[in-house]
Amino acid sequence: MTELLIIILAYLIGSIPFALVVGKVGYGIDIREHGSGNLGGTNTFRTLGVKAGMIVTICDILKGTLAASLPFLLGADIHPLLAGACAVVGHVYPVFAKFRGGKAVATSGGVLLFASPLLFGLMLFCFFLFLFLTKYVSLSSMLTGVVTTIYSIAFGDLPLIIAVSVLTAFVIFKHRANIGRIIKRTEPKITWLNLKKK
Ligand code: G3P
Repeated sequence: MTELLIIILAYLIGSIPFALVVGKVGYGIDIREHGSGNLGGTNTFRTLGVKAGMIVTICDILKGTLAASLPFLLGADIHPLLAGACAVVGHVYPVFAKFRGGKAVATSGGVLLFASPLLFGLMLFCFFLFLFLTKYVSLSSMLTGVVTTIYSIAFGDLPLIIAVSVLTAFVIFKHRANIGRIIKRTEPKITWLNLKKK
């Protein structure tokens, strides 16, 4: 019973659309009508600036961390990666935002922050390295997923390998439109200069 409760709770935590909440409450803006329309940190950075982007990204990360820690907090026999994955599903298909959410990156990172802080550190390092080299957030997110998958295959146990592989596949699947834009060279690059400062 506690296991089912955790799965539902994790999904509901993941479903909290922080990009929508911060946009509407803080700025009177529906972020879904701006930029890529994605309910995530990147589109918040792009549309509302650094402060709002940071808040949304950190909250989206912490959703994954909190969900993954639920089995420990509630003393249930369910793997933290499974609970975390439920939050990622909630983030991407949020019940509180007509099932149109984000692209799984930050919340997956938050799950890893709980399950393998070292891997989370590697993820952060790779992401900023790829971002520095390419200036594409979407491409950096996908490449980071590939590197973390390779790392987990080399050094992780079976649950970590399965979770990271599935989450990376999910991240790439959710970036289909970005991949098309990268190929056509219409994907916006992100730099400090083109971030709105509010
Ligand atoms: O984390 C999402 C990011 O990789 C891409 O977001 O808004 O550019 O589609 P966006």
